[in-house]
Amino acid sequence: MTEPAATNKPVLSVIGTGYLGATHAACMAELGFTVIGVDIDPAKVDLLNSGTVPFYEPDLDDLLQRNLRAGRLRFTTSFEEAGKDAQVHFICVGTPQQPGAYAADMSQVFGAVDALAPHISAADLVVGKSTVPVGTAEEIVNRLKSTAAIGVEVAWNPEFLREGFAVQDTLKPDRLVVGVTSEQAERMMREVYAPLIADNVPFLVTDYPTAELVKVAANSFLATKISFINAMAEVCEAAGADVTKLAQAIGYDPRIGSRFLAAGLGFGGGCLPKDIRAFMARAGELGAEEALTFLREVDQINLRRRAHTVDLARKTLGGDFRGKVVTMLGATFKPDSDDVRDSPALDVAVAISNAGATVRVHDPKGIANAKRVYPNMDYREDLLDAVTDADLLLLGTEWREYRELDPHQLTGKVAGAAIIDARNALDPQAWRSAGWIYRALGRPTA
Ligand code: UDX
Repeated sequence: MTEPAATNKPVLSVIGTGYLGATHAACMAELGFTVIGVDIDPAKVDLLNSGTVPFYEPDLDDLLQRNLRAGRLRFTTSFEEAGKDAQVHFICVGTPQQPGAYAADMSQVFGAVDALAPHISAADLVVGKSTVPVGTAEEIVNRLKSTAAIGVEVAWNPEFLREGFAVQDTLKPDRLVVGVTSEQAERMMREVYAPLIADNVPFLVTDYPTAELVKVAANSFLATKISFINAMAEVCEAAGADVTKLAQAIGYDPRIGSRFLAAGLGFGGGCLPKDIRAFMARAGELGAEEALTFLREVDQINLRRRAHTVDLARKTLGGDFRGKVVTMLGATFKPDSDDVRDSPALDVAVAISNAGATVRVHDPKGIANAKRVYPNMDYREDLLDAVTDADLLLLGTEWREYRELDPHQLTGKVAGAAIIDARNALDPQAWRSAGWIYRALGRPTA
């Protein structure tokens, strides 16, 4: 993969060094480009320059260190440096949900564009990658008209990377989507992604609104698929059926497919929940609200799974949380990530704690981030310590080390041999035959 920096390639800047930007910067350097990562947080920039990724993402440390050493990658807080030295500028900053509203907070995107604009040259290309409301590219074009040199081009190039697979998804994406309004911009994008295009990655050229919509449409579909199977889980619970078998059976139909049909605590993270809400908000502004009312239901089904899990825990403990110790296995929104944004597991842990139980939280990677959001929870670094004398274990994130737990080994440690498998990640038979009360979401009680 690694090749020496070629002088005819454009130099790239990547604005924003979170999960998306840091990964994109390191991966583009790996593809042989000279890359300048920009962030307004000097501490983050120092960490990245010293070869440390400020979050957990498999394989990213190696990639970062290798490309720093090769001299292809550096990080700075200076927009001036990025504007002067690079010709293609990727906007990779966050678009979180606005507090108290569904819409996305766009201040980081416009802040980044405004900070960069005075420093870029007429032949430069600004490429949006952040997930944004449709219409943003056009708004950036208008903004640049008064703030940047005449001739600066804009392209929209959504990112589809999953946390935990971010490097793989960036270096071997399913597809590349590029929204442009000129041949010049398309040519530059083809140059930037030449190594991937040569690798037969499908390259779709669209207008701006289509490129912007592709991202939120994809995430809405994925969220809908998860909520569909979780709605089936609700029906299975009422009918005494098994949602995991149901998912397996419908998944064999290639029109349906088996991926993203894992029923459980539902989706969380920094993307799916806020993206479907921002999409609804934007559709409303465009007068197309009715088209997306189903996403409200998708959101509701998802949140209901959390409330149901709290109820199931209460029932399993005989109807009362008081005086009981519950150990939440998992704090992150999914395994192989340290991200606790909108984490179903953490949300349930807090709800059970508020309902009166003594709650301990274990997670292999997410404790530091969880502590920042909920400093008063009882976090345990050691798994055995976390489960010792617990009345109930609750698997909220399907980390491998939980999937591999041996029920026989734990029996003597806990106060009550009861587990709720809120991710359908364990073998019910193995736990029940070891003497445990095993409950799961969407599956028969015994
Ligand atoms: C998602 C999209 O997959 C990615 O393409 C987009 O660019 C960003 O948002 P990510 O947030 O990293 O990526 O996580 P993803 O793997 O999609 O999982 C999202 C949530 O859904 C997790 O909480 C996961 O536990 C849950 N999930 C996923 C299920 O509950 N069931 C499933 O079958 C799959």
